[in-house]
Parts: sequence; structure tokens; C-alpha cells
Amino acid sequence: MPLANLFGSKGRLMLSALLISVVIFELAYCQKDGQEQRTTPGRKLSPNKPKLKKPADKGPRAVTAKPKIRAAAPGQTFLTQVLNRKTFKKVGETISVQTGGTLQLRCRGKPVQWNVPSYLEEDDDGRLRIVQHERYGVLTLVNTTGADTGEYTCYPMYCEDTDCRKDYGKAVKVFVFFPDPQELFVPSSDYYEVIQLRTNWPTVLPCQVTSPEATVTLHREFPPAEVKVDGTEISFNIKKGFTIHRPKPYHAGALYCVASLGNLRQSSTKYMLIYVNYPMAPPAPVIQASSSSVVVGENLRVSCTVVGEQDVIVEFTWKYPGQKIERPLYTQESTSPVGGGVARQQSQSVLLVDEVRDVDQGTYICTAQNLQGAKSVSTTVKVVPKAARKP
Ligand SMILES: *[C@@H]1O[C@H](CO)[C@@H](O)[C@H](O)[C@H]1NC(C)=O
Repeated sequence: MPLANLFGSKGRLMLSALLISVVIFELAYCQKDGQEQRTTPGRKLSPNKPKLKKPADKGPRAVTAKPKIRAAAPGQTFLTQVLNRKTFKKVGETISVQTGGTLQLRCRGKPVQWNVPSYLEEDDDGRLRIVQHERYGVLTLVNTTGADTGEYTCYPMYCEDTDCRKDYGKAVKVFVFFPDPQELFVPSSDYYEVIQLRTNWPTVLPCQVTSPEATVTLHREFPPAEVKVDGTEISFNIKKGFTIHRPKPYHAGALYCVASLGNLRQSSTKYMLIYVNYPMAPPAPVIQASSSSVVVGENLRVSCTVVGEQDVIVEFTWKYPGQKIERPLYTQESTSPVGGGVARQQSQSVLLVDEVRDVDQGTYICTAQNLQGAKSVSTTVKVVPKAARKP
């Protein structure tokens, strides 16, 4: 049971962390510049960071209506690649830069912020430099390698006095390939990667190639076979890798990508795909006590039942009055199929209280949890003295 408890609380933690980050993101996005700055990975790359102050509580600001704003008019965000001192090239969706060479991007805005592939942010080895000029920002990456392949984004900032915030609508992105003659795949630090395949949730196998010219195929390790990529069930995107759109149990197993270019043929990191029956909704438990009023010395059973999708694991946790005197918890858990057309199952946990005492009177709470969430239900049990029952 402690293990189940641990799992349950960990799951809840994960869920609440997710919720909290969504909330933070919303706040950041809507109005709180300070928070937005902190939650943005590209933050530390900003050179002359504008002094941030939280806006006074004036509600969401209608930016276009304020006169003091210095920002580019719509459609005026430009991202250019600086080829040499005099040559600038407006970038398209993707560009290729020779490995070992220098990537220089210039983005109009005063100021601008940049987002770079996370690996570059993590290992700051001095190859990346960001400078803000009067009217534009410049990102320079030297001694490039295939590992630098990825998305580079420029966010022009809206500024009002010293208060700046990102303008997400005007962000400009470019995907930069650094074709490496030795490494067709962006190197990974892991020999293999475990990926959860969740029912009906798209799953990405992020085998990223360093060259847009590479041909990439998907393979199963055992039995060895190439996996058919039809563009519907599984699709490939040169900037992302393979996506399994609606995972099914048969997609599970060890998969890897193979890239070929010229005479070179290389395999990616291995992906261990584990299928998880992912429920559509949190469980809906029903609680029932064998009796709402129990005589001292009799036995009490409180059952908590969930009927839900088949093969979805439900974890039960209990809170009961006897807990305060450390009365041990006895439960019986079971799962059984439910008849009828759609494949459903019943999961049940029964809390057993032997020889009820006064301390067992009170509220019994059952929490049922699956990967989508948790729900608690409760019932109250009254304990009556032996004599009271006899008229
Ligand atoms: C780039 O490579 C050159 C030659 O190997 C080296 O001298 C220089 O220090 C490197 N620059 C950075 C910023 O790593």
C-alpha cells in the first residue's frame, strides 16, 4: 500500500505541476512581464536585459492604443541571415549552414529576445553571442556542429518605458540545419530513450537529422523490419522526426531511425516505445458502506468502485477515522470485466474494519486515481453502543 500511495501522490504532483505551469504561462502571456521572463528558456540570452517591472494593476493593456510604444508595425519583423559584411539574406522556413562555419542571424526589433535549441542554452561554451543594436538584434554562433541543428526564434519586444514583453504574434522562426559529413543525426547523449505511447495521443520519435537532404526511414528492431510510414498513421517531418498519430499497442517495441545520404548510412538512438492505456477521463468512484450505522464489535466493509475503460489502472487511497489512532488499513482490491458491448472493467477497493470501536465513527474517504486525474468520494458511518440496539 505505501507503494500505491507513493505512486498516487507522485501522479498528483505531476498533474498539479502541469496545471501550475499552465497557469504561469497564461499569466506570463497575458500580463505579468516579470513572470514571463522567468519562465522563458531564452531569457538568459538577452544581452542588455531591459529593466523589468510589473505593470501597475491596470488590467490587460491595449497595446495598440498607447502612443508611447516603440514597436515595429505589423509585418515588419524581419529575420535575415548575415552572410558577410554586406550580404543579408531574408530567411525562409529552413536554412543550411556549413558545419564549422558561423551562423549569424539579424532580427529587427528593439530589443529582441532569442530562443535557441535547448542544448545550446544548457552548455554555454562561449560559441553563442547575442548583441542588441539600436534597431536590431544579432545572434552569432561560431564553430558550429551538427548538434546545433534546430529551431532559432526571434521575439521582438514591446516596450513601454522600461517595461518590455515578448510579442508572440511577431515571433520569427527559422530551422537551421548544419549538415555534418560525419553525423547524419543530431547526437544524443543517451544510448536509448524510453517513450510512452499513450492511447490516442500523438507520439514523436525525435530522430533529428543534420541535413535536409538525408533520407530517413523508420525501423523495428525485432523482428527486424522497416516500418511503413504512410503519412496518416505515421508521418515524417524533417524538422521533427516521426510522429505516431494514434498509438496502438502494436506500435510498442524498440524502434530506430536510419538516415542515408550519399554513401553514408547511420542509425539513430534507439527508442523503446512502451504502450500505456491512457484513460479518456479521471475515474468516477462510488463509495458504499455495508451499513451507515454499525454496532460496536461488528465488522464494517466500505467499498469504493470504479467502472471504466479496460486495462486502465486505477489506484485507490483511503482516509478513515481509525487512522488517527493508527489502526492498520486492511483493503481488498480487485478488478473484473464488466459484461456488455463495450469492453469495460470494474476496479474495486474494499476497506475492512474488524470489530468496530467508537474511534471508527466518522467519514470514510476514498480517492481513485488514474493517469488523467483523481476523484474523491466519502461516506459517513455512525457507531452505536451495543445496548442501544436492544430495545
Ligand atoms: C573556434 O575555433 C577556433 C579554431 O579551432 C578556436 O581558435 C576558437 O577559440 C573557437 N572559438 C570559440 C568561441 O569556441
